[in-house]
Amino acid sequence: MKHIKQRNVIKLALTQREFFNSLASEWDNRARHDPSKLAEIINLINFSKGANVLDVGCGTGVLIPYIIEKIGYSGRIVGLDIAEKMLEKARQKFPHQNFPNVDFVVGDIMNYNPRLFFDYIVCYSSFPHFPDKKNSIKKMASLLDSEGKLIICHSESRQKINSLHQSLDKSVSSDILPSGMQVSAYMQSAGLKVETVIDDEEKYVIIGAKL
Ligand SMILES: C[S@@+](CC[C@H](N)C(=O)[O-])C[C@H]1O[C@@H](n2cnc3c(N)ncnc32)[C@H](O)[C@@H]1O
Repeated sequence: MKHIKQRNVIKLALTQREFFNSLASEWDNRARHDPSKLAEIINLINFSKGANVLDVGCGTGVLIPYIIEKIGYSGRIVGLDIAEKMLEKARQKFPHQNFPNVDFVVGDIMNYNPRLFFDYIVCYSSFPHFPDKKNSIKKMASLLDSEGKLIICHSESRQKINSLHQSLDKSVSSDILPSGMQVSAYMQSAGLKVETVIDDEEKYVIIGAKL
């Protein structure tokens, strides 16, 4: 944690992980997601039954019920997040005894080295927070199974996401969602074929498939 001294007032600068940990207990009341837009995004992804899914920056697990509904209980979900308190909440909502096909892992996507490859890797409302956008896409592409898909999505417009972040704590205020064109270019340079680009006033959905 960095110490910033300002006119005799010592302020503690939060790291991004600390910022999200500090919000974990109120996250589900604070973060509102339009269920109809979430359902549209899930339909665009078109998960197959029995798929193996990585939910990067899963937070308290808002997407998990939507994904389970599509992949069924023969599929598997790993929720990955750097903020352990977000995952504590997720584990309370999706306990292993009732959801044996859902696991949560504390970690940063850039250092995550699972034993299995994934059919789908979804970043819902998390991509702006990855510091090295281009290399994070490269890393996620390397974790996809053959014909696997990487999905970067938000249920709000890019403009709305970016102005929201600017109004928040310093630890996230410069976390910017790049244009759909820019993310498509990163996906292409990671060897993915871009299948869907929606970057409009309603939502943001970029889908790339492993060739
Ligand atoms: C805005 S929250 C969204 C949480 C959840 N997807 C939702 O929509 O409610 C972003 C999440 O991404 C996580 N995150 C940020 N950077 C990450 C990284 N490098 N690897 C894994 N998770 C990360 C944060 O800890 C946080 O829980």
